Amino acid sequence: MRILLGDNEIREGVRRLGREIQAFYGHRPLTIVGVMTGSVMFLADLLRELTMPLRVGVIQARSYRNSKAGKLVMNAEFMPQIAGRDVLLVDDIFDTGQTLFELTEQIDCLRPKSIRMAVLLTKEGRQKVGRNPDHFGFEIPDQFVVGYGLDYRDAYRHLPYIAILEEPDRIAAERMAEEAERGAVAAV
Ligand code: IMP
Ligand code: MG
Repeated sequence: MRILLGDNEIREGVRRLGREIQAFYGHRPLTIVGVMTGSVMFLADLLRELTMPLRVGVIQARSYRNSKAGKLVMNAEFMPQIAGRDVLLVDDIFDTGQTLFELTEQIDCLRPKSIRMAVLLTKEGRQKVGRNPDHFGFEIPDQFVVGYGLDYRDAYRHLPYIAILEEPDRIAAERMAEEAERGAVAAV
């Protein structure tokens, strides 16, 4: 795999982002909501950079964009109460921005005091929504990346660096996913 961001570079970027977020909110209490599963490593590292009073929860987003309904379904079972709170939504990557845009709209209905978004990565020239992330770590070229939480078909999330997915890695992940599906069928 071609490494785009090494672990040291990521660490420095997350530290920089932590300082920026800290400077924005000061000592105001903050509610952080991580979008599962892609944000898992970034969330854990970012939390360690913040010193204001914090509450943390997670949500999961499922997109049914290909179906007629075409909407994003949010599972908020593990999200803390956010009415009247300053909320920071944390995710791995801002690609077209649709996921985070729709999530902020849905969270907005729960009447937070404010809602902002922080992502580790944003992709150059891909944004399709009228809002940019309020905080981001790195702008990357328009290529598919994996590692540090980001997956391809659920593989490669555990890599401590961010790499560009190349054809052999893509094929290997496809094979693993197919084997897992076959195994699941056999186990029934
Ligand atoms: P968006 O709604 O187009 O902004 O897409 C955001 C979601 O797509 C992210 O939360 C990721 O789960 C996924 N995604 C977009 N680009 C990549 C990538 O390069 N690698 C892995 N996942 C990606
Ligand atoms: Mg995601």
